[in-house]
Amino acid sequence: MSALERNILVTSALPYANGSIHIGHLVEYIQTDIWVRFQRLIGNTVTYVCGDDAHGTPIMLKAQQAGVTPEAWISRYHTEHKADFAKFSVEFDNYYTTHSELNRELVERIYARVKAAGLITAKEIEQLFDPKANIFLPDRFVKGTCPSCKAPDQYGDSCEICGKTFDPSDLINPVSVISGATPILKKSRHLFLELEPCREMLLKLYEQGFVDDAVKNKLLDWFKEPLRSWDISRDAPFFGFAIPDEQDKFFYNWFDAPIGYLASLGNKLACDAIETEKFWNDDDLERWHFIGKDIQYFHALFWPVMLHAAGLKVPTKLAIHGFLTVNGKKMSKRDGTFITAATFAKHLDPQYLRYYYATKLGPSPEDLDLSPDDLAARINGELVNKLANLVSRCAPMLSRLLEGKLGISAMDAIPILREIRGAADEIHAAYDSRNFAAATRLICTLADKANKYVEDQAPWKLVKEDAEAARGVLTAALEAGRILTIYLKPILPEFAFKVEKCLAIPPQKWRNIQDAVEPHTINAFEHLVQRLEKKAINAMIDDSKEGVPPAPVTAPSIENQKSKMGGGENPYPDGEPLTAQINIDQFLAVDLRVARVLTAEAVAKSDKLLKLTLDVGHLGQRTILAGIQKAYVPSDRLVNRLVVFCANLAPRTMGKFGTSEGMICAAGPGGTEIFVLSPDSGAKPGQRIH
Ligand code: MSP
Ligand code: ZN
Repeated sequence: MSALERNILVTSALPYANGSIHIGHLVEYIQTDIWVRFQRLIGNTVTYVCGDDAHGTPIMLKAQQAGVTPEAWISRYHTEHKADFAKFSVEFDNYYTTHSELNRELVERIYARVKAAGLITAKEIEQLFDPKANIFLPDRFVKGTCPSCKAPDQYGDSCEICGKTFDPSDLINPVSVISGATPILKKSRHLFLELEPCREMLLKLYEQGFVDDAVKNKLLDWFKEPLRSWDISRDAPFFGFAIPDEQDKFFYNWFDAPIGYLASLGNKLACDAIETEKFWNDDDLERWHFIGKDIQYFHALFWPVMLHAAGLKVPTKLAIHGFLTVNGKKMSKRDGTFITAATFAKHLDPQYLRYYYATKLGPSPEDLDLSPDDLAARINGELVNKLANLVSRCAPMLSRLLEGKLGISAMDAIPILREIRGAADEIHAAYDSRNFAAATRLICTLADKANKYVEDQAPWKLVKEDAEAARGVLTAALEAGRILTIYLKPILPEFAFKVEKCLAIPPQKWRNIQDAVEPHTINAFEHLVQRLEKKAINAMIDDSKEGVPPAPVTAPSIENQKSKMGGGENPYPDGEPLTAQINIDQFLAVDLRVARVLTAEAVAKSDKLLKLTLDVGHLGQRTILAGIQKAYVPSDRLVNRLVVFCANLAPRTMGKFGTSEGMICAAGPGGTEIFVLSPDSGAKPGQRIH
């Protein structure tokens, strides 16, 4: 490696193994991938690693709900995430997982040293606990009324209505999202990472270009008060790594997640923990983390302290980006703007998104907006009409009119070619400082000039008088196209590959900008990029809406329930139509169980409702109200029968009749024709139906 050449380890944040990659995530992975490709193009050595963040309570609970092991759950997302990244040409050197032996080993080593450095303390704290599910409740698993504005149904950490942040124990009438039970306060011993002793180290780090200046000032705000110690332990049950020498305590997933960067690196290098740490600590290695602004706290405070206390080098740089909005709003399933990577790739060319984000991304953590009109305008107006146009027009023309033979660039193209080559340093600087918006702007301006040159020279006319002059013009145009393609290569690797193939040239590097193409015969032209059809965007948005009920997400009213089940008339005389398609996640979200009917009795003053007590095995007993009275007289016909029961439906108050804790499944049009489904297959109460 020459003295000037850089050796850079680059990471993108590890996505949770608990959901699909969406276009918001892709802001980060595309941004990082472009930067990595640029660094390689100019001759630097880069190792780009990532992986899944696989631990934590939400993952454990989702797996439980789906009736699978957490290992099976995270492995499903591992496969899916890798496939999604590949579709968008996001190319990691390694895509690993925090749930790995190497990560466990690294976590234990780092923890032991941080502890030996005296930075781990223990404290007894009180937290909300779900007495029914027997689990401490993370903030997001408690809901209740906002203590400030009294808005109902708010999460335990903050109010979406008035914006106040608070402790979950401040909520009025809190309920556990897991079981619906009222949480109680319970004490437990927790382990903390002390940050205050590392204040000076952090402040010094911020002075060394660790973050851009605009971000630095924000970080300094945290230092106006003593730095609060950070809770790194969680009580069982928890899906994660057990803390050595502790009983039933686990590392909080945010403790082992950034160590996952090292684990992915070590796995890539086929190293053990010791060698991995050595590589990380190399004096000549730059360590870059690309992250979103929502997780800068973890990366700018906790992570450097963990590393420093463990005798490891702190990161060189945090590259922080903003959040994606669609049409100026947060992505939303209802609007169809919560678009997954897979859905985007199904309807549109992934290159569009790479190009579009590049035009929007600057070095600052400002939010960026995607709007369908703007997307179409950029793709058709810039990518197709300007950037692809040069090669897609001139290459077939050369093949058609002049046997595809390149010659020497025309003399009158010297100024424009000089200008294009002359922009190399400016474009280089823009890429290096993550100002991809500036890079694409400049590249488009150059493409305009090159296109105008072709237009002015009209080689399709010129060829009739002077074939060699026309060859010179087309050679110059394709030369311009080649150089512009090098400029675009970090953003559009697939496009670049096709241009190289068509021009019959080897894979281009940055240094090839200064070359002059040799006379030779080019290959048949292959389409570079299609025009974007507005209707494809609309189809994508519709597709992203699929399966999401258009109605508000409140529980169905008793009136709806009546017309569906208890009412006398058949609302669907020709058979009930099929509802919108759902995906597997949506199916898995419905927790159907086998239950045994213990008691069944008519509800006083109701001619529709039956009150059932169900035995749901290990989930205990449930009382439900079902609008099936007419079909089940006498009602004790149901006693002792097994039924199919939706166990995770939010409890619902049915006016004066009481509360229903779930719903049993039945078929039939209503009235006397309701047939409660009764599995007679040997299934046991409490078992999940998949
Ligand atoms: N698992 C943690 C990161 C651990 S890193 C040691 C996490 N995962 S995440 O899946 O929620 O987010 C992964 C990355 O995607 C984060 O950097 C986050 O900022 C980014 N984005 C997620 N949604 C985003 C948008 N809507 N817009 C832009 N970036 C977004 O956080
Ligand atoms: Zn509020």
